Amino acid sequence: MVYIQRREVFSAAHRLYNDALSTEENERLFGKCSWNYGHGHNFEVWVTVKGQVNPETGFVMNLVDLKALMMKYVIEPLDHKHLNHDTTFMLGILPSTENLSIEIWKQLAEPVAGFGAQLHCVRVVETENNAVEYYGE
Ligand code: NI
Repeated sequence: MVYIQRREVFSAAHRLYNDALSTEENERLFGKCSWNYGHGHNFEVWVTVKGQVNPETGFVMNLVDLKALMMKYVIEPLDHKHLNHDTTFMLGILPSTENLSIEIWKQLAEPVAGFGAQLHCVRVVETENNAVEYYGE
């Protein structure tokens, strides 16, 4: 089994706010991340795919194809969007980095399988110091 990785980036705004809770409760939970209008990040998305090496190509999966899938299913829908308001696959979901990694997984798992490989990990880097990894469990 060999693991390959590809990184892409997007910029987006989000606001951590749970509509089911009061403004005070949201401020207690999310601090300044709960403020009106949101704030932005330059997100990195690292996708790890695993599989056997194809003897014909020497690849688990062509990284050109993985890049194309990431652009179509993740970067184009999210780049320069407000994750709370724009019509992306994040609409209606509290846009924490955790939830972002889960929803990105849902976007990519099937398309990656279509290339005979298996999605292994979605890593979303929110800041220099914060990152989340999701393994589909
Ligand atoms: Ni944030």
